[in-house]
Amino acid sequence: MRRLRFLTMALATAALSLPLTAGVAGADPAADRQSVPHSNARLDRLRDAAPEDFVVGTAVAGGGHHLEQDYPDPFTSDKTYRKILGRQFSSVSPENQMKWEFVHPERDRYDFEAADAIVGFAERHGQVVRGHTLLWHSQNPQWLEQGGFSKEELRAILREHVTTVVGRYAGRIQQWDVANEIFDDRGDLRTQDNIWIRELGPGIIADAFRWAHEADPKAKLFFNDYGVESVNAKSDAYYALTQDLIRQGVPVHGFSVQAHLSTRYAFPEDLETNLRRFDALRLETAVTELDVRMDLPETGMPTDAQQKQQADYYQRALSACLSVEDCNSFTIWGFTDKYSWVPVFFQGEGAATVMTEDFGRKPAFHALRSTLQAARGD
Ligand code: XIL
Repeated sequence: MRRLRFLTMALATAALSLPLTAGVAGADPAADRQSVPHSNARLDRLRDAAPEDFVVGTAVAGGGHHLEQDYPDPFTSDKTYRKILGRQFSSVSPENQMKWEFVHPERDRYDFEAADAIVGFAERHGQVVRGHTLLWHSQNPQWLEQGGFSKEELRAILREHVTTVVGRYAGRIQQWDVANEIFDDRGDLRTQDNIWIRELGPGIIADAFRWAHEADPKAKLFFNDYGVESVNAKSDAYYALTQDLIRQGVPVHGFSVQAHLSTRYAFPEDLETNLRRFDALRLETAVTELDVRMDLPETGMPTDAQQKQQADYYQRALSACLSVEDCNSFTIWGFTDKYSWVPVFFQGEGAATVMTEDFGRKPAFHALRSTLQAARGD
């Protein structure tokens, strides 16, 4: 339970009146490498600016689209990256390294090297971990998708996977995205592209939560999706499903919004209202993958107005979470544009994170920090 839930509105204004100069590429790149004179170095960090029981997280770059880029693995190779990762954040989410294709590359072989390294890093840095993810339609290995397995075999495969992966990190993962993106935008279950739902029916969702709970009774088990920031057909579908599962006694503990936002669209004004209705079901809520992409001008450099709008979206997403009683985990999907998935997946869009490619802090970074500080009451 968190106490300081107010002040965030006052803060919004303060945060946005910050100078925009910090946003330009090259500005302030050294700020995380040395202490800033005459400043309170601790409060300089997002993790320390946050209210006591509120964690600020980031995705840990590696796997997925990174494998096709011309840089080495960010998490293991980029020293500056690692330093900022350890200093600024109190929660980490493997961006790809716990997904099926990564962790379970062959039917009878698991590869935990990258995932272990992240969990070890988190423990050394006093960070919690969000596990991501166990039941999804995407980033599954070929052997699974094309294996021609019978229903019995598939059920046994999922059970073994959940038991093995969740069991390996039992007691060391704070929240698990058990089911990821199971509904389409109309609020219909993905009965075609999700192999589990297609082959085994919707009942498999409850089983995945039960197996995960058996393997780690302490982990909080979540539904996670994009496009569910507002009250809409998709979030309504989660609202109905979670109520139903809770009624049946299925161990579902949380509902989280990814929040991959774009300045092309208005900010989802009813984010707080939406989180509150899940909170009222006594579920935890979380923001798990926030980024705010934009159409880049020809120069490739965002304008001041774009930076300001982006900072406003970051701040409002954070304020919404801070205002909801059991929204205690707020994660951005990467902290530097250097490694963001956005330019790879959204043509012509980019600059979606809170730091430039050379780790300069953008207005969005400052907006997050001052909003956290105000919520903490400093
Ligand atoms: C993305 C990663 O950022 C990329 O590196 C990867 O190539 C594809 O997946 N929703 C999710 C995340 O739940 O797992 C996705 O991550 C982004 C959308």
